[in-house]
This record gives sequence, C-alpha cells and structure tokens, in this order.
Amino acid sequence: MSKDAYGLAAEAAGVLKGRTGVDSFDVLLVMGSGWVPAADAIGAVVAEFPVTDLPGFAAPAVAGHFGTIRAVTTESGAKALILLGRTHLYEGRGVEPVVHGVRTAIAAGVRTVVLTNAAGGLRPETQRVGEPVLISDHINLTGSNPITGATFIDLTEVYSKRLRALAREVDPSLAEGVYVAFRGPTYETPAEIRMLRTLGGDLIGMSTALEAIAAREGGAEVLGLSLVTNPGAGLVGEPLNHEEVLQVGRETAARMGVLLGTLVNKL
Ligand code: HPA
Repeated sequence: MSKDAYGLAAEAAGVLKGRTGVDSFDVLLVMGSGWVPAADAIGAVVAEFPVTDLPGFAAPAVAGHFGTIRAVTTESGAKALILLGRTHLYEGRGVEPVVHGVRTAIAAGVRTVVLTNAAGGLRPETQRVGEPVLISDHINLTGSNPITGATFIDLTEVYSKRLRALAREVDPSLAEGVYVAFRGPTYETPAEIRMLRTLGGDLIGMSTALEAIAAREGGAEVLGLSLVTNPGAGLVGEPLNHEEVLQVGRETAARMGVLLGTLVNKL
C-alpha cells in the first residue's frame, strides 16, 4: 500500500468535513446490495451527495449500487456516515478504491464500522433467504489484501464480539456465520460451493473482507451483517441472478432498517 492511499483518504475526509459541516464522525455504515433501502431508518439526513464529489472515489459500476454518501445524526446524537454502495474488487480498479471509503471514514474520526452485504447462504439446512446473519469471522479468498509491506495486523477478532452481542440485544434471533470472500464477478460453481462448505464457510460474497481488514488496520471496531439472498450455487439447483439479490433486499428493507436504526443508537 502506498502512503498516497492514506493521504488521499485524509484529503477526502477534509472535503467531507467541509461539505457536511461535521467535524468528526462516530460510525460508518456501508450499505451493500439489498441493504440500501434500509438506510432511511438510521437517522436524520444532514447532507447527501455523490461519492464522486470526494477525492479518490469512483462511481460504482453495478446496477443497484448507488454511489452516494450520506451524513446523518442518529436519535442518540451520534454522527453517522452512510455509504450507499461500495467499490468491489471485481471492478478491476485494484484494492485501494475498495477500502477508500473505510479509510476516509476513519480519517474523519470513525471508530465503529458496520459492513453490510448480500450473500449466498452455504447452509440452506439452517439458513433462510431474507434473513440477516452476523459475520463472526471471514475467509479471505480474494487473493488480495489492502495492506502492503511488513504491517502484521492481528485478525484474531476482526468482527467485534462486543458489537455482535449488542446486535443480538436488538435481535436475539440473529445467527452467526463465517463469510467467505471471493473476487467475483462470476457467482461460484457448485464445486466451489461444496469446497467452501468443507472449509467452514457459512456465507459467500464478493465484498466486506478487505474493508474489514482496512478497518482493523485503522483501529476501528467492526460489525459485519450479511443478508442471505439465495442459497449458494447448486444447493437448490436454480441459477443465480443479481435481480433476485436486489429483490430480497426490497422485501426485507423494513426489518433491516429497524435492525440498523436500533443498533446505531446503542453504539
Ligand atoms: N455468491 C456470491 N456473492 C453473492 C451471492 C452468491 O451466491 N449472493 C449474493 N452475493
């Protein structure tokens, strides 16, 4: 990782403060596919503009990934930053744009990072489509890492136990699972899904792990939440498609909104 990436994040944080009038933020929420409609429940909007107004941000390339940044004040008075959409590794811009949002938020004061995503369920025996699952750990199979050089960051507890317990106070029915990150953009083959089940994965997706690493590098506490939008490829014999992923999000937006809205007020 070049020092420039951190400099660019500091610069973006400076512009962010100017645009929002907020000196320091407390929490970042990254809204993945399916989670965007839930964003309205998090707090009162202070400012909202395209991420491309900030240095270092590219417009998301995927339908249903919005590319907007929103500053809100929660009921409890916390200053939250919401990224509606994210950059994925499969977009081919390299790893730095993938974690730029997290680094910018940390440069703007954020100490808590909530990462949400849509994921395939690897355990249809126990998981239901439309259910949120707490990420307990990850397996990073992207072949990438946002950190370059001999910076040996401890990843024993990437996804904070404390924040998971807090989330379960809001919704005691929340299950936990291990998130496997693939680069994408293809969905997996049935053979890959069988492999991931054997490896101990519970959820499969194309985001989150690299952002979580960058957040830990920056010393922030991380909460990860996956919305199970489909069983992994080959588990039920039906083909996967992106529209299905977004549709599940629309159907479950109210529940996800209540979950996130209640949660941020407890942070
Ligand atoms: N695989 C990878 N990413 C995903 C999936 C999936 O099955 N569902 C939603 N995002």
